[in-house]
Amino acid sequence: MIRRCGPEDFVLIYRIINDAAGAYRGVIPADRWKEPYMDEEELRREISEGVLFWGYEERGELVGVMGIQHVKDVTLIRHAYISTPQRNRGIGSQLLSFLRGETTHPILIGTWADAVWAIRFYEKHGFRQVSPEEKGRLLRTYWSVPERQIETSVVLGDSKWFSS
Ligand SMILES: CC(C)(COP(=O)(O)OP(=O)(O)OC[C@H]1O[C@@H](n2cnc3c(N)ncnc32)[C@H](O)[C@@H]1OP(=O)(O)O)[C@@H](O)C(=O)NCCC(=O)NCCS
Repeated sequence: MIRRCGPEDFVLIYRIINDAAGAYRGVIPADRWKEPYMDEEELRREISEGVLFWGYEERGELVGVMGIQHVKDVTLIRHAYISTPQRNRGIGSQLLSFLRGETTHPILIGTWADAVWAIRFYEKHGFRQVSPEEKGRLLRTYWSVPERQIETSVVLGDSKWFSS
């Protein structure tokens, strides 16, 4: 079941993100890795800045989360994390399809250039990487990320983005 997460889910969202983000350990540049990967303050800030989290619940337990954020003329998919033992069961695909139905705007997704599995996941769902020049412009326009993160990230867009 896919459901909107509320304030009561904060601790669960925090746990799922920091468990699933373990996939980045030793993969993304060492200076970008920290533990916990996302601390409570950062998660709180993301929510207060408009990231709406949706969750996938199975037998009463939240096993995956994905955020959506409407920024200017686009919609961003943010913080897609499926609990490690629950991966590769189609949960991420279901959450992504659901969130795509929640907007009529072009969708952009940013992820680490080294997270090849995540890039493949989005490409399988029809997203395409934007050019390196476009990536910098988009990350500066729609996200608030440090310059170093821009160097080490990629941005993918849906077909609406590429036809707009
Ligand atoms: C990226 C991520 C969100 C994808 O979620 P997921 O639930 O594992 O994704 P899905 O199960 O829908 O799809 C992943 C794979 O499982 C396969 N799959 C889908 N449904 C399946 C099913 N019912 N049975 C078996 N395999 C299935 C898909 O074909 C896909 O295969 P591929 O990798 O060869 O393309 C998840 O792997 C994750 O949390 N990773 C760590 C954090 C991360 O990288 N997040 C992205 C940040 S932007």
